Formats: sequence, C-alpha cells, structure tokens
Amino acid sequence: KRIVVLISGSGSNLQAVMDAIDAGQINGRIEAVLSNKAEAFGLERATKAGIPALILKHTDFESRESFDQAMIEKIDQHKPDLIVLAGFMRILSAEFVRHYQGRMFNIHPSLLPKYKGLHTHQRAIEAGDSEHGCTVHFVTEELDGGPLAVQGKVSIDGDDNAESLQQKVHKVEHQIYPLAVEWFCADRLKWTKDGVELDGKQL
Ligand code: GRF
Repeated sequence: KRIVVLISGSGSNLQAVMDAIDAGQINGRIEAVLSNKAEAFGLERATKAGIPALILKHTDFESRESFDQAMIEKIDQHKPDLIVLAGFMRILSAEFVRHYQGRMFNIHPSLLPKYKGLHTHQRAIEAGDSEHGCTVHFVTEELDGGPLAVQGKVSIDGDDNAESLQQKVHKVEHQIYPLAVEWFCADRLKWTKDGVELDGKQL
C-alpha cells in the first residue's frame, strides 16, 4: 500500500514506521512525508531514507481551508491508500477529513476517550490514574474523537512526572503505530459502516 506521513516535528513515530517497513513488517511504502514546518527533524529522517520530504507552510495560506486544499493536492499526487498523522500539529478542516475518511490514522498520547487535546500526561497524573497510554485511531471531524484502532498501556508509578511518563508512552507509541499500519496494509484493520474491524471482528 501507498502511505503518506504528515508531521510537524521530530518524527520518531515516522521513524518507527520506516523501520518496520525496512524490517519487512509492513507491506507498504512511504511515498512522501509532508511537514507544515520547514525545521521539522522528521524531514531529515525522510530524506536520509530517500523518501520525498515536502514542506507546505500553513503560514503561507490565508485560511485553514486553502492550506488543507493545497495539502490535498500535494498528497494526492502520491495516490495514497493511507495517511498517517505522526505528530502533525494542525487541526484539519472537515473537507480534508472527509476526503481521507477511513484511510487516515492519528496517534494520540492517552487512552482515548480519556484526555483529548494537550497535556495528557500531566492530566493523567493529576487525576491520580494508575494507568495511561496511547491510542491509534481513525480520524474524524471531532478532534481526537475518531473510532479507536489500537491502544497501548503503561502504568503510572509513584515517582512518575509528566516527562518520565511521556517517555514511557512514546516507547509504546513506537510499537503500536507500526502495528496499526501493518494491519491496515494487510487489509486486516478497517473502519466500515459497522465500526472498526480487526480480522473481521468488531473492536
Ligand atoms: C507523539 O507524542 C504523538 O502522540 C503526538 O505527537 C507526538 C509526535 O512525536 N500526536 P514524534 O514527532 O513522532 O516524535
């Protein structure tokens, strides 16, 4: 399958997917990496791997809609089967989301539906939770609200702070994101009108 990855920063999740492809775990290819920030380190990761690294600055556009339209045009040149949001820090317009409905994943650092939005690690600690984690989900118009695909858990220990928890969760992100992409590319994971299915069973 043909994959396009969207990033805004370090791209460690992008790296995890690239590594899983190199290891033969994923039956797919990253056709392009697109960043809204020119300085995103993930662009270097892509270039090093021989993957086209594209920059489209949202600040060059007048509106969210015109930026998203330009992204669609750039992305669709690569005819993607799957869009992977990997630390892409822009809210997407309804039109963009609809265009890639059922074929766009995001990863969020919490056990959704808990803690949508920012500062998830701090919020989990403050709530006194004993566990925390990350979620790969299909993207819908509701921010961090789409149907869940894969979750990974970590325990919150007494001496954890937001920073240490973030590091623990990041490690798990690097396991579950390649897994979700692997399953999608093998046609094992899909979102149909009946909900999200893995190997023909509803999640
Ligand atoms: C991750 O924590 C992910 O959950 C969030 O953005 C971060 C991206 O990290 N959506 P990286 O750029 O993949 O290292």
